[in-house]
Amino acid sequence: MELKQSLNLKYFLGVLLLLNMFAFSMANKTIPTSSINWVITEAKYTRLCSTKKILTVNGLFPGPPLYVHKGDRVIVNVRNQAKYNITIHWHGVKQPRNPWSDGPEYVTQCPIKPGASFSYHIIFSTEEGTLWWHAHSDWSRATVHGPIIVYPKFGTTYPFPKPYAEFPIVLASWFKGDVMEIIQTALETGAEPNKSDAFTINGQPGDLYNCSKQGTFRMLFDYGKTYLLRIINSIMNEEVFFMVAHHNLRVVGMDGAYVKPFKTNYIMITPGQAMDVLITANQSPSHYYMAARAYAGVVYDNTTTTAIVQYSGNYTAPSTPLFPNLPNYTDINAVTNFTKRLRALASKEHPIDVPKSFDTELFMTIFVGTCPCGDTSCSGPNGTRLTASLTNISYEQQEVDILQAYYKKIKGIYTQDFPSKPHYVFNYTADDLPDNVLTPTRGTKVKV
Ligand SMILES: *[C@@H]1O[C@H](CO)[C@@H](O)[C@H](O)[C@H]1NC(C)=O
Ligand SMILES: *[C@@H]1O[C@H](CO)[C@@H](O)[C@H](O)[C@H]1NC(C)=O
Ligand SMILES: *[C@@H]1O[C@H](CO)[C@@H](O)[C@H](O)[C@H]1NC(C)=O
Ligand SMILES: *[C@@H]1O[C@H](CO)[C@@H](O)[C@H](O)[C@H]1NC(C)=O
Ligand SMILES: *[C@@H]1O[C@H](CO)[C@@H](O)[C@H](O)[C@H]1NC(C)=O
Ligand SMILES: *[C@@H]1O[C@H](CO)[C@@H](O)[C@H](O)[C@H]1NC(C)=O
Ligand SMILES: *[C@@H]1O[C@H](CO)[C@@H](O)[C@H](O)[C@H]1NC(C)=O
Ligand SMILES: *[C@@H]1O[C@H](CO)[C@@H](O)[C@H](O)[C@H]1NC(C)=O
Ligand SMILES: *[C@@H]1O[C@H](CO)[C@@H](O)[C@H](O)[C@H]1NC(C)=O
Ligand SMILES: *[C@@H]1O[C@H](CO)[C@@H](O)[C@H](O)[C@H]1NC(C)=O
Ligand SMILES: *[C@@H]1O[C@H](CO)[C@@H](O)[C@H](O)[C@H]1NC(C)=O
Repeated sequence: MELKQSLNLKYFLGVLLLLNMFAFSMANKTIPTSSINWVITEAKYTRLCSTKKILTVNGLFPGPPLYVHKGDRVIVNVRNQAKYNITIHWHGVKQPRNPWSDGPEYVTQCPIKPGASFSYHIIFSTEEGTLWWHAHSDWSRATVHGPIIVYPKFGTTYPFPKPYAEFPIVLASWFKGDVMEIIQTALETGAEPNKSDAFTINGQPGDLYNCSKQGTFRMLFDYGKTYLLRIINSIMNEEVFFMVAHHNLRVVGMDGAYVKPFKTNYIMITPGQAMDVLITANQSPSHYYMAARAYAGVVYDNTTTTAIVQYSGNYTAPSTPLFPNLPNYTDINAVTNFTKRLRALASKEHPIDVPKSFDTELFMTIFVGTCPCGDTSCSGPNGTRLTASLTNISYEQQEVDILQAYYKKIKGIYTQDFPSKPHYVFNYTADDLPDNVLTPTRGTKVKV
């Protein structure tokens, strides 16, 4: 049985972060460099021929970019004027010794209640490049997310010629229905949540969807110039292929770090990932589509989102921009061919400091299995409930956040028996798994 990770992704994230967290102590009290005010508020957006209210930061979808330099400190004051509990997570910002500002709901903090505020003191350390921020409660992150752009420290520069200009490319999911209802229903029925109705590039589905042509995101290119695309996959579940017709891409960074540059005509980017990609306007002045669509899962949105690269100058544009030849939905070779080329830059200026000795080894399995449904029948496989787990443990949320329980020594919130390795060893990549690996145990377990 193969079930794609989806439903309980937030539980994975929670537990993974938790495992990291206990190495950290109190935050550095140095005065931060800047302070920003954000308001969580509902806003009306019209996409795919219908209008609905979505949760946003400051009314924006995607949300406002956070621009910083390496090593900066920033305070983001979040005021929650919406009707839902919410937290914000700074994805990929390591924040050493600063766990209270990390954001996962009920892991490092209780949610910010409607009408309440919370100030995140964010410490940037080694990150440089592109990351993102997103809500870390329910499915609010579907629309509450935005780029984090970390420029080189003042007085230093990129490990490649400075691009002429840059564009954030935020890929996201659009659901015609209410995202909170969709996840609520999935949690109640135990089935896969509804798939999205569209993907978007910077908030716009693009020309291939109904009622969408007017808004399609356009980028103006000057011939001969090189641009930096900061591509972020904020899509709820799907890995996607991304291409620009007729243009080569040069991948130079990933997840807030530089990579050894390599040339490719497509990228494959997973949910949560960010990539820095250079593109040179060296083709005949015209209009070209950039497009993204899924690498297939069990249930996936098979639509294609587009934006338009438009050269400046005097020329006759084609009636339809040229379209890229995207890899097929199921092209696993395209996936492995791409991912195996990713290597850390590891230069003198950007060294990789991987610890070569360690005190504790953790061997974890990540899995989406099923749990029995109790008295009634669920809508998961064979009437079960889809359940995500780490090393066969499915996380159970508590009323108190775990970091608080740890610091205040509140008993009964978690147990300290998260296993250092699987109890039961099986072929982790097999297509047919024995029955006893399908059903995890439940608990709130930590490794201190
Ligand atoms: C606090 O930050 C400053 C400036 O980044 C640094 O010099 C200092 O070592 C830090 N102190 C602690 C305790 O982390
Ligand atoms: C919102 O968060 C508070 C704790 O901060 C909690 O008591 C309450 O149950 C939460 N509400 C929902 C709907 O989850
Ligand atoms: C989820 O999908 C089902 C089947 O297409 C549909 O009937 C239902 O309205 C959807 N739910 C939401 C909240 O959009
Ligand atoms: C566009 O609308 C038509 C008519 O309602 C429908 O048949 C078609 O499936 C829609 N296309 C997309 C991509 O949603
Ligand atoms: C997308 O999936 C629908 C079924 O959900 C199917 O009818 C359609 O042919 C698929 N389109 C493509 C391009 O694969
Ligand atoms: C664009 O090129 C055409 C054909 O060469 C010419 O007739 C026209 O005047 C040019 N327009 C501008 C704004 O330069
Ligand atoms: C994608 O699939 C189609 C039909 O199955 C095939 O004709 C085409 O060659 C495939 N493209 C690639 C890049 O593999
Ligand atoms: C992947 O690489 C293999 C071996 O180099 C090659 O045969 C294959 O065509 C490549 N596939 C794609 C989709 O790039
Ligand atoms: C559903 O049950 C049948 C019969 O017990 C079994 O053969 C099949 O593997 C089960 N499917 C899943 C997805 O668990
Ligand atoms: C595990 O399963 C995979 C996929 O079926 C297979 O290729 C591999 O040989 C198996 N490994 C062992 C040790 O049996
Ligand atoms: C997971 O836990 C369940 C419940 O304790 C047990 O039945 C199952 O064998 C365990 N599976 C693995 C792979 O450890």
